[in-house]
Amino acid sequence: MNFFHVFFILNLILIFANCQNIPDSRFEQTGVLVNEKIYFFGGILQNTSHNNEVWYLDFSKSFNITSPSWHKDVELPIKYDFGTSCGSRIDNFTVFLIGGRMSPINYSSSGLVFNSKISQWSILNATGFNSSFASRIAIQSIIDDYGKIFIFGGRTQGQSIWFNDMNVLDITTMTWTTLFQPQDITKSVEYAAVLSNNQIIYIGGRINSGKSLIDMNNIRIFDTKSFSWSIKNASGDNISARLGHSAVLTQNGDIIIYGGAENSTASATTFVSSPQVIPLIAILNTNTWIWSNPNISQTNAPPSLAFHSSVLYKKLFDCCIW
Ligand SMILES: *[C@@H]1O[C@H](CO)[C@@H](O)[C@H](O)[C@H]1NC(C)=O
Ligand SMILES: *[C@@H]1O[C@H](CO)[C@@H](O)[C@H](O)[C@H]1NC(C)=O
Ligand SMILES: *[C@@H]1O[C@H](CO)[C@@H](O)[C@H](O)[C@H]1NC(C)=O
Ligand SMILES: *[C@@H]1O[C@H](CO)[C@@H](O)[C@H](O)[C@H]1NC(C)=O
Ligand SMILES: *[C@@H]1O[C@H](CO)[C@@H](O)[C@H](O)[C@H]1NC(C)=O
Ligand SMILES: *[C@@H]1O[C@H](CO)[C@@H](O)[C@H](O)[C@H]1NC(C)=O
Ligand SMILES: *[C@@H]1O[C@H](CO)[C@@H](O)[C@H](O)[C@H]1NC(C)=O
Ligand SMILES: *[C@@H]1O[C@H](CO)[C@@H](O)[C@H](O)[C@H]1NC(C)=O
Ligand SMILES: *[C@@H]1O[C@H](CO)[C@@H](O)[C@H](O)[C@H]1NC(C)=O
Ligand SMILES: *[C@@H]1O[C@H](CO)[C@@H](O)[C@H](O)[C@H]1NC(C)=O
Repeated sequence: MNFFHVFFILNLILIFANCQNIPDSRFEQTGVLVNEKIYFFGGILQNTSHNNEVWYLDFSKSFNITSPSWHKDVELPIKYDFGTSCGSRIDNFTVFLIGGRMSPINYSSSGLVFNSKISQWSILNATGFNSSFASRIAIQSIIDDYGKIFIFGGRTQGQSIWFNDMNVLDITTMTWTTLFQPQDITKSVEYAAVLSNNQIIYIGGRINSGKSLIDMNNIRIFDTKSFSWSIKNASGDNISARLGHSAVLTQNGDIIIYGGAENSTASATTFVSSPQVIPLIAILNTNTWIWSNPNISQTNAPPSLAFHSSVLYKKLFDCCIW
């Protein structure tokens, strides 16, 4: 893991944000790695509303980290933010955008399908789609190797209704199922999630009424084989609670979280003025469930980000855009 690369890419994006062929700064976009490309869909451009842009970095070509070349793809048919996306691990080119804020029209099926091979958008038609999921936001989806996409919790727009349900979209049959939830799994939003050995590990986020954050030692785990939940109590270094952070899983089973906001009353747009999370980067060992603060030097460190997106590409932890 080379942390220098993280910082480097972050700085690059921030510094050159206004140059030609470089995306403007944004947040609440959704990002995905598929077919050796990292895509970003939609998001909110600073001081404006959401947008329908699609950008990607192509890792199949030789990649210059000091001047990555951005490509613009066919735009989304609607403006989009605060949803979630997954790349098919079966064909390695289909992308599913689930939930999210859409305008000017909401698709009742609440999702879109992007064929990244031919740059074509279509509406997601899932049999048994649960209409209470429509326009669900503040969620993260996880896809397994067998074509099941799992989406936990989230809320409707306007903060009104919060959920602790688990929705499952099987992309091999295009069927939608809402699973029964045990009462002790708290309704939550703006958490981070990663898949490790058929288990989805949920970290941090905001609970219930929205004012309280989830303790970072309270690790919620969903087993994608038995469809059951369990809780792990993590320990180790003190990691401040956060929302809107990102998480990736390394090959050796460490989860690296990055950024997020500490102030549960801050919205993404007011995040800049909220206190920075400490530490910015933390590592959770999934064998011991011990947190560590890698104590990374602040030299060349980027400002803290929240409501960004991140993916792990080989050993390089890329890309966060705010
Ligand atoms: C966004 O708005 C704030 C406050 O009005 C202003 O200070 C800032 O320069 C604006 N940023 C951009 C990129 O326009
Ligand atoms: C990468 O880009 C930088 C800046 O444009 C340039 O100076 C450098 O020569 C490039 N490196 C390679 C290997 O192309
Ligand atoms: C998709 O990618 C995975 C991992 O890189 C690979 O194991 C698999 O064979 C690929 N599947 C197809 C259909 O290309
Ligand atoms: C889309 O649906 C959400 C939630 O039902 C609603 O708040 C929003 O106004 C709708 N947007 C449009 C453009 O109809
Ligand atoms: C979903 O249904 C619409 C309308 O029937 C169709 O245009 C679209 O192509 C379908 N989407 C997919 C992914 O098949
Ligand atoms: C749809 O989701 C809601 C909210 O989680 C749940 O109460 C309801 O039972 C689900 N409906 C079906 C048919 O699964
Ligand atoms: C986690 O800790 C809490 C209190 O600190 C305790 O009540 C609970 O039983 C613990 N859970 C596990 C799975 O160890
Ligand atoms: C952990 O960090 C938080 C926020 O930085 C602080 O309020 C708290 O006192 C710390 N707890 C311990 C046990 O050090
Ligand atoms: C939290 O964020 C809100 C909105 O930006 C701000 O008004 C408030 O002062 C912040 N609270 C703290 C403790 O920083
Ligand atoms: C980071 O620094 C803290 C406080 O100095 C220390 O407790 C912790 O063990 C350090 N972590 C690592 C991974 O070095």
